[in-house]
Amino acid sequence: MTQTARQIIAVAGGSGFIGRAIVRRIAQAPDATVRVLTRDPQRARARFAGDAANIEFVAADVTQSARLGEALAGAAAIVNAAQFDGYPIENPAKGLTFQRVDYGGTVALLAAARAAGVERFIYISGAAADERSSTGAFRWKGRAERKIRESGIEFTIFRPSLVYGPEDRVVNMIAKALKFAPAMIVPGDGKQRLQPLLVDDLAACVALAADGRGRNGIYEIGGPETMTFDALVRLTMEITGRRRPIIHIREAALRMAGRIAEMAPGALFSREAVDFLIADNACDLSLLRAEFPITLTPPREGLKYLAGG
Ligand SMILES: NC(=O)c1ccc[n+]([C@@H]2O[C@H](COP(=O)([O-])OP(=O)(O)OC[C@H]3O[C@@H](n4cnc5c(N)ncnc54)[C@H](OP(=O)(O)O)[C@@H]3O)[C@@H](O)[C@H]2O)c1
Repeated sequence: MTQTARQIIAVAGGSGFIGRAIVRRIAQAPDATVRVLTRDPQRARARFAGDAANIEFVAADVTQSARLGEALAGAAAIVNAAQFDGYPIENPAKGLTFQRVDYGGTVALLAAARAAGVERFIYISGAAADERSSTGAFRWKGRAERKIRESGIEFTIFRPSLVYGPEDRVVNMIAKALKFAPAMIVPGDGKQRLQPLLVDDLAACVALAADGRGRNGIYEIGGPETMTFDALVRLTMEITGRRRPIIHIREAALRMAGRIAEMAPGALFSREAVDFLIADNACDLSLLRAEFPITLTPPREGLKYLAGG
């Protein structure tokens, strides 16, 4: 009896919020093996309890290039969805920076992928990625993208807007705050534009890219509706049934708070985090729609899981 070779798709950051959705989606294909690259295989495995048997876990740290080759052996594609702990607030003293993990990790994975004969590199970048940006986060994502484009490996780059889902941080934080706080605090003027994207929709596109779709393209990806941060908060209020007044914290006050927080060791906030919070994250979906056959979930539908929570 002949057996078709199983296709191995490696996912760095596969234990994270976006990574988990990608891993589960790719693992739905019966002929795929998904290999999660993680700093802690045991902890990562626990996050997939009950999931498909075709998911394996391999120890790998994207800042330690020595073991990456071994981790990528036999893989047809690598998805890079790794991000440093505490993102988007950097902690340079601990090496938790966009430069080291996002950019450095991408460069290390590219080198290992080339050496291991991996055919395809898929990168989860960000809507504001721009190598000329004065904001480190956006600049290092932009530089990582350039390294990928110039590597000679087939690639697909996704630039997501705000990604949400039952296991996300931002929308869950809003929903949690609405439970306990008498008012909702919004950074900036609340007019920053977003296109909230259901994590499963991103995962579906990544799975297609792992199969070769969107080859050598960069795709902005967001939900089907552009809305302000305030509108997202109001939608969350409507779905959860918890209406609260919105209080805006002016940019100057946020920057002052960032400056003060940076003086403390292990800062919980920073000036660059302010750039992140007030950035516009709207997308042009035309390229994505032309290449990926996907119906993007409207936020009112995608956020239903918040009802009754
Ligand atoms: N969330 C959003 O709304 C959003 C929007 C746009 C773009 N993105 C981008 O999407 C990517 C994934 O974001 P996310 O929200 O899913 O992040 P996340 O939940 O914080 O997950 C990141 C994962 O990266 C892994 N990781 C951290 N440091 C590592 C290292 N040194 N070596 C190997 N793995 C490491 C961690 O896995 P282990 O602990 O198991 O090692 C962790 O599970 C990021 O690049 C982010 O910038 C996110």
